[in-house]
Amino acid sequence: MTTYQFPHNFLWGVATAAYQIEGAWNEDGRGESIWDRFSHTPGKITNGDTGDIACEHYHRYPADIALMRQLGVKAYRFSTAWTRVLPSGRGRINPQGLDFYDRLVDALCAANIEPFLTLYHWDLPQGLQDEGGWDNRETCYAFADYAALMVKRLGDRVNYWTTFNEPSVITYIGHLTGEHAPGIQDARTAYQVAHHLMTAHGLAVQAIRGANSKVDAGIVLNLWMADPATDAPEDIAAAESAWDQTETLFLDPIFKGHYPPAVYELAGGNMPKILNGDMALISQELDFVGVNFYSRNVFSAKGKVDSIDGAEYTEMGWEVCAPALRRMLVKINNEYRLPPMYITENGASFKDEVSADGKIHDPRRLDYLKQHFIQTRLAMQDGVDVRGYMVWSLLDNFEWGHGFSKRFGLTRVDYETQKRTVKDSGEWYAEVIRANQVRE
Ligand code: FCB
Repeated sequence: MTTYQFPHNFLWGVATAAYQIEGAWNEDGRGESIWDRFSHTPGKITNGDTGDIACEHYHRYPADIALMRQLGVKAYRFSTAWTRVLPSGRGRINPQGLDFYDRLVDALCAANIEPFLTLYHWDLPQGLQDEGGWDNRETCYAFADYAALMVKRLGDRVNYWTTFNEPSVITYIGHLTGEHAPGIQDARTAYQVAHHLMTAHGLAVQAIRGANSKVDAGIVLNLWMADPATDAPEDIAAAESAWDQTETLFLDPIFKGHYPPAVYELAGGNMPKILNGDMALISQELDFVGVNFYSRNVFSAKGKVDSIDGAEYTEMGWEVCAPALRRMLVKINNEYRLPPMYITENGASFKDEVSADGKIHDPRRLDYLKQHFIQTRLAMQDGVDVRGYMVWSLLDNFEWGHGFSKRFGLTRVDYETQKRTVKDSGEWYAEVIRANQVRE
């Protein structure tokens, strides 16, 4: 048996996002977001699900924090809903929204759980979308104001501030394929949105630091390793070019100060409007970077390989391939000068069944996590500075376009009764945290 010991201050945590768990979509003065609008539009979400109620975390947060204590997590990554605090995105502040996050953060601190806050996990105020959303540069300034407001209120207790969660999903899935809110399908818009997300990130980092010079600022990127199908040079070239065209779109501007040449080529006439000074703003030093990892893509000279013989796939249709996480971490560590890193999301959706004893035996999720923890530890031995790990997710929740049909939780949520039941994977995770090690 091999034991993988983690550093004593390693930040083990769990992650969620506001729209996926909070519910209470129109309570206490919360404004409408693009995800409310999108999920209320027939045909957009599997089974017509919405986040109107979700996990009722808005009301049940004390019990959910008790659950976190039971798991022994050291950190909780969550997002704040812009529309709770600024119902139309700018202007009038809703004190009840600020009070909610104040109570949440106080309760986390009382439970000795480090709050790890994301300002934007996809729920743009509909009021701003009506004025062009992320295609409109004004949204960047509104975002920076929202960031400053939150830091002023919570910066005395929240140290970790993340501007955006997964700008590439916002860009490609929200504005190119249209499977996510706001459901736009337009390449020109998508590239302009990408640049505005980066600009907003830069402005927000300044705003965060301006509001409180002691806190840490960072961003969360989702990265899928691009692997070649074989060792043939043309397959290797295909994988490299796929990586360069997609995964570098945000890494390069943030950590190198320019957009990658491959993206210029791909975007052609759709390259965004970039103003003087934008790239310097975007490439400011960060205190940390978060990486979300779920799977990899495989490429041959003929294109993307859809199915790998003998491979295991999750309910999302994502291949289970933990070694790709280590390869990806080492790759970005070699290619960029990165600040300390956190795995800010990793987890798996599998079909769960409640057994006769009321338990949820989820060996595949448990094994998925175990393999990814091990590969992260190995990447750390290779020299990658990983400081913590947030499992996606604390709870089963609203999985965007898939609604409630996909379950990622360490804890099962019965949506009829809102009962929470820790799954085997959750109990195992508690043991990993307690021992600060993984054994295999
Ligand atoms: C990520 C999202 C997160 C969750 C997981 C499964 O892309 O950041 O909200 O949906 O995927």
